This record gives sequence, C-alpha cells and structure tokens, in this order.
Amino acid sequence: MNNPLRIALIGGNSKVGSAITRLFEKETDWQLHVFSSTLLHTSSDRIIYKLIDYANSKMLKEIFFEVRPDFIINTAAMTNVDGCEENRKEAWFSNVTFVEQLARLSLIVESHLIHFSTDYVFDGAKGPYTEQDQPNPICYYGKSKLAGENAVLKSHANNTVIRTNVVYGLTTNDQSDFVQWVIKCHEANKTMNIVNDQLSNPTLTDDLALSVKRIIEKKRCGLYHIGGNSYCNRYEFALEIANIFHLDESLISPIQTHSLNQKAKRPLRGGLINLKAHTDLGIQYSTIQEGLVRLRHQMHAINQE
Ligand SMILES: NC(=O)c1ccc[n+]([C@@H]2O[C@H](COP(=O)([O-])OP(=O)(O)OC[C@H]3O[C@@H](n4cnc5c(N)ncnc54)[C@H](OP(=O)(O)O)[C@@H]3O)[C@@H](O)[C@H]2O)c1
Repeated sequence: MNNPLRIALIGGNSKVGSAITRLFEKETDWQLHVFSSTLLHTSSDRIIYKLIDYANSKMLKEIFFEVRPDFIINTAAMTNVDGCEENRKEAWFSNVTFVEQLARLSLIVESHLIHFSTDYVFDGAKGPYTEQDQPNPICYYGKSKLAGENAVLKSHANNTVIRTNVVYGLTTNDQSDFVQWVIKCHEANKTMNIVNDQLSNPTLTDDLALSVKRIIEKKRCGLYHIGGNSYCNRYEFALEIANIFHLDESLISPIQTHSLNQKAKRPLRGGLINLKAHTDLGIQYSTIQEGLVRLRHQMHAINQE
C-alpha cells in the first residue's frame, strides 16, 4: 500500500486555507500539515497544526526538511488592498519575498508548489480575463501578487498558480468576507453603499478547495483562472445575498468606486474566465445563487450544533 500524500498548507487561517482543510479532512486520506501564525486546533490526527513566523526563513527550511511534503499549498498573503498601498514593504515581503523562499524550498525538498494569486494582476479595462491575457496591475497589491506568481512560475520546481477573485464561503469567527459583512450590517440595521461599477465572478471557497484537490490528484502544473459562474457587479452580488438570506434590500444602495476615495485603485471590469479549469479539472463552478444557498445551509447546520 502506498503511503498517504503529505501536504503542507501555508496560511491555515485564511478563508481559502480553512476550506481546503475542511475538504481534505473529509474527503482524502492525506496527511495535512497546516502552518499558521495563528494558533489553530484540530480534532483529527491526520491534521497537524504548526505555528510559524513568516519572517523566520530558517524555521521554514527546518520544517520542510522534517515534513518533506509532496505538495505545498500557499494561501498566505497580505490581502488588504489599501493596506498594501500604504505598507509596501510588508506587502512585498508577504506577497513576494516569502513566496520566493517557498519556491526555492519546494525545489530543494522536491515538492510541487501550488500558489494563490488574483485577478488584480489585470487593469480591469476588459475583463473577464483568460490565462492568455496580459497582466497590467494598477495597484500595489496587484503588482506584488504578479511578482509573487512570476517567482513561482519561473522556478524550476513543479508548480501551479491559481488566480481567483472575490472569495466567499463558510468563515470562522475571526474571518470576514463580503457576504458576512453584508449579513452583519443587516443585523445591525446599518445602511450599505455598494459599488455598481466593479465587476467580478465571486468564487465559493469550497469550489477552490475542490480545484486544489483535483490539481493534486491530476498533478497539474501552470496557470489556472478559477472563478464562479456568475459575472456581476458588487451591488448585484449584495442584492443576491439579501435575497438568499432574506435580508432587507432597502438597506443597500448603489454607488460608484471613485466616490470612495480609496488609497488603492481598483480594476473595474475584473473577473476570470474559468473555461480551462472547468474543462481540465472537470468542475462545474457555482453561480452566486448556488454558492449562497449552499453557504446558507452550512451556516444553518452549524447553528444547529
Ligand atoms: N479573498 C479574496 O477575495 C481573494 C481574491 C483573489 C485572490 N485571493 C488570494 O487567495 C489567497 C487566500 O486569500 P484569503 O482571502 O483566503 O486570505 P485571508 O483570509 O485574507 O488570509 C490571509 C492569511 O495570510 C496569512 N498572512 C501572511 N502574511 C500576512 C500579512 N502580512 N497580513 C495578513 N495575513 C498574512 C495569515 O494566515 P495565518 O493567520 O494562518 O498565518 C492570513 O490569515 C491569497 O493569496 C489571496 O491573495 C483572495
């Protein structure tokens, strides 16, 4: 009998990382080593949590030599878009320098590196984008993520880069996403001004986790665009959240991006064409209606526990 695959997941407390942990625990016999700067707990003996300090490259090297993972999945990143604009040094470290280290280490320990990136590598002039479209980032987050994905794709190790956009799904108490923000505003009876000129195809974290599982099973390398099956603006997404979660739509009003005066520029016509992933990985990606209904059931089940 073959030994189960050894997987190292970096950024275990990210939204995408949590979904990967949930799926792999339920549907695989793989041994999962989860690295996080946050203290996390497990009930499973196949999941081993390890606290890490992203700035300690020696520690990272020692851990990889000890674990010898077959696959390394990196979901860790500085994802606060305005924060990256303001704290460029920190953003470059998390999104580029750290990723370069991972690429080097994955080569040394002969692991396949799977890394997450974003549609913010594009300028948003003519999305949704295919894998063949030319990146042209307009904010520091996008620039740093593009440099990070290049470091992975140009390394000689086996590697895969997954670009995704507007991620939502089941969250833990200390995580937040757009769906949870809309629900919380509604619970507090707060009005919401939501942009109607930023387009994307929101992506369910469970679909991303399944994509990673298929990439591992099929040993796929290269670039994949992964996004959901509804192309919509953020205001339309908020209205659909209100519809599926039975919230008061009158709290939601449309506005335009320029009125927010944000530190970082946003790509307006963003989003990712998922045809390659759909065809090659055999996954039917969720529409926002399907994803939100699934999420509502998951949240309901947790509240019943
Ligand atoms: N969320 C989206 O809408 C979206 C859209 C497109 C692409 N992506 C990409 O998908 C991946 C996962 O995104 P996510 O939304 O699941 O991530 P997230 O929830 O924002 O979590 C990111 C994790 O990265 C780790 N981290 C390392 N350095 C950090 C720093 N300087 N600041 C903050 N966190 C840091 C932390 O993990 P630990 O606490 O476990 O150490 C943190 O929980 C990222 O590569 C992101 O760029 C996300």
